[in-house]
Amino acid sequence: MRVFSGVQPTGNIHIGNYIGALRQFVELQEENECVYCIVDLHAITVPADPALLRENTLDVAALYLAVGIDPKKNIIFVQSDVSGHAELSWVLMCNTYTGELSRMTQFKEKSRGNESAPAGLFTYPVLMAADILLYDSDVVPVGSDQKQHIELCRDIAIRVNNKYGDVFVVPEGRFLKDGARVMALDDPLSKMSKSAENPLSRISLLDDDEKIRKSIMRATTDSEGSVRLDYEKKPGVSNLLNIYSAFSGCAIPEIEEKYRGVGYGVFKTELVAVAVDALAPIRKRYEEIRHSGELAATLRDGAERADGIAWRTMTRVKRHFGLGVKG
Ligand code: AMP
Ligand code: TRP
Repeated sequence: MRVFSGVQPTGNIHIGNYIGALRQFVELQEENECVYCIVDLHAITVPADPALLRENTLDVAALYLAVGIDPKKNIIFVQSDVSGHAELSWVLMCNTYTGELSRMTQFKEKSRGNESAPAGLFTYPVLMAADILLYDSDVVPVGSDQKQHIELCRDIAIRVNNKYGDVFVVPEGRFLKDGARVMALDDPLSKMSKSAENPLSRISLLDDDEKIRKSIMRATTDSEGSVRLDYEKKPGVSNLLNIYSAFSGCAIPEIEEKYRGVGYGVFKTELVAVAVDALAPIRKRYEEIRHSGELAATLRDGAERADGIAWRTMTRVKRHFGLGVKG
């Protein structure tokens, strides 16, 4: 099966991204051919500083490698290095209804009726569909917030196939389990996010040990004092239990048992050790490759291989649509 997914090169990749997405990317490479893309064209739908965008793009690429994605077995590349994404996006836009795009909740939230919202923010889901369809992808692992976009991608693929013959593979979403949702440390009712103002609300993959310690020790809990899972009454402690479980591999009941009768202080201190142990090797590997020729060579090779697949798909698309005469 061919797996495709993309991550935006916005800074502050955090443990929510890791537990919810990157770690599953690593698992999927065992049995599939995976194409992992850093979607920089998506990142310019909102104003982005050019120098920072490039740094963030390289950061994500280095993190992909640092968490254990094998670039020989899979394809890791930067979206704008393969021209087929923008090209296919246009063809798909001509087969997408404005009504469909108006119903996308992410667009509604981000634009809030603002007449100066960029058109790219509106057509963003079509570019995402192009990313997926360009590689004849079978499976797309994403967070459940992307469900509507995947559904649109499937609708467009089916619509084109009905009109023009068998052009596209119709992909399936593979939605990440809710347990994989990591909440903000200072406000366990909202998702951990890259953009929250308080840096202590998240643990970024590149945070040093001291920052990890501080974020965990200050994390919101409750006054009950017992370490047990209860999403409704104890969202803060439940979130910490999930993080502990994800990083240690221990099941939640085991952890509850281990900390029965001790206060949050001990639990948090040991969670710091567990998180530091899990993240230190990723950071070390990241630092080795981030400014190396290896990273540049990997992305060049990835783009070349991706472009080979994309070119074949575009040739097929053009043939079905009657586009181009060069052959
Ligand atoms: P984003 O940060 O929105 O670019 O998301 C990149 C990937 O990480 C997507 O697959 C998201 O679903 C996933 N993700 C983002 N935030 C979280 C979170 N707090 N918990 C779990 N997964 C997340
Ligand atoms: N829209 C996705 C997000 O914000 C990122 C993305 C872009 C993507 N293209 C993709 C994810 C293709 C999966 C497949 O998380």
